Amino acid sequence: MQQYILSLDQGTTSSRAILFDQQGQIVSQAQKEFTQIFPQPGWVEHDPLEIWSTQAGVAAEATVKAGQNGKSIAAIGITNQRETVVVWNRHTGKPVYNAIVWQDRRTAEYCDELRAQGREDLIRAKTGLLLDAYFSASKVRWILDHVEGARQQAEAGELAFGTVDSWLIWNFTQGELHVTDVTNASRTMLFNIHSLTWDDELLTLFAIPRSMLPQVRQSSEVYGETKTTIFASKIPIAGIAGDQQAALFGQLCTEPGMVKSTYGTGCFMLMNIGTEPKASQNNLLTTVAWQLNGQVQYALEGSIFIAGAVVQWLRDNLGIIKTSAEVEQLARQVSSTDGVYFVPAFAGLGAPYWDSYARGVIFGMSRATKAAHVARAAVESIAYQTMDVLRAMQADAELPIAELRVDGGATANKLLMQFLADVLNTKVVRPHMAETTALGAAYLAGLAVGYWPSIEAIKALGQADTAYTPRPDRASIEDGIADWNRAVQALQVWSE
Ligand code: G3P
Repeated sequence: MQQYILSLDQGTTSSRAILFDQQGQIVSQAQKEFTQIFPQPGWVEHDPLEIWSTQAGVAAEATVKAGQNGKSIAAIGITNQRETVVVWNRHTGKPVYNAIVWQDRRTAEYCDELRAQGREDLIRAKTGLLLDAYFSASKVRWILDHVEGARQQAEAGELAFGTVDSWLIWNFTQGELHVTDVTNASRTMLFNIHSLTWDDELLTLFAIPRSMLPQVRQSSEVYGETKTTIFASKIPIAGIAGDQQAALFGQLCTEPGMVKSTYGTGCFMLMNIGTEPKASQNNLLTTVAWQLNGQVQYALEGSIFIAGAVVQWLRDNLGIIKTSAEVEQLARQVSSTDGVYFVPAFAGLGAPYWDSYARGVIFGMSRATKAAHVARAAVESIAYQTMDVLRAMQADAELPIAELRVDGGATANKLLMQFLADVLNTKVVRPHMAETTALGAAYLAGLAVGYWPSIEAIKALGQADTAYTPRPDRASIEDGIADWNRAVQALQVWSE
């Protein structure tokens, strides 16, 4: 009987399931959006039971759509929105509070207090992370401090904490397994990325009892089997990775110096830096890329807050395009921005600047400036921001970068892809298989059960791609880069 790998991609706005065959091709897929809960400005929550029910639902749907049942699934791989926190009761399996999502800023002031107490260097050295409300630790603490009885129950060993992967696996195994993998652990701010263990000093700092924590496992191994009745038979759960790390693996960035960039609302860039967790001197994060066959690889990570969202802004706020796809056509109506530069810092500037007070600006407009110039400048801003992060990565890692592998919605824009290759002066490679995140989780699970014998065998599948190479004539591109740098500097002066 032909066997498949079921990949579950639990993202920030939807739960997805994709069945892959041995060629790494999609056999079937299902997706369901779920409720975003905004109780107060800056707060973002999900209902953990809705996360579970949508994920279980799409897992069943994708399987049935392909005319399969559990018997033909060799393994399940799980990938997930990272940092988001679920705390539940070990006896009842009920969450004690909604999931606090990575985007939630309610603990920002508490993080400022820790900074004022001089804790940032310690946290950075141990976890590779910047002290920020983005990561899990301060969110878990918030639940223990604000949900009635939670701290006492946690101290009595009755509560479990997990990122979304742990929560799903707990449910798939009906409470038998409380596990996570090194990539998800590395985003909690409680995990020492050097010793690969939960860190007692950090647990004390955040007042989180060790008994709440999941066991940390590799990204590719058989953790256990499903116990739910969703499938006709038990299925091994054999791969876990945070979604950005899964995309890095799905893009087969398995050697030091290989970089991927995923374009959604924002953009997450990760560079494989090999087996040593090198600290960044340029405001990037150091994080675990994966652990496979006992070996850990690390990555540098930089995020851009506004990438695809700048195109949505042109559509929804300016109304100069009706659909996001139209931006390319509009931008192509002019051959250059004619000196217009758009820094879309709507939510501050992310890596490598980390300026939370910056806001969006458009420089260089004249009376001749048209919507097409602004659209082109918006598209170009995605490339320039990518360049800023890639340069920081290059400076930190001191590794040659042969190409940038890209995925996500904005990569359909050919104008952007060519401009990206031009400003980076580096080849840009876009795989035809768009689902690199789910594919990465499938690869990790498939490797653990021998569905694919080795990474080499996966590489030999030869997924097709399109490459964009930089134009040789660089003068106008270098001028544009210099003007972009001046625009960012001017914005930083303004936001001081
Ligand atoms: O760090 C957050 C990231 O993992 C979220 O990814 O694709 O769910 O927005 P996504």
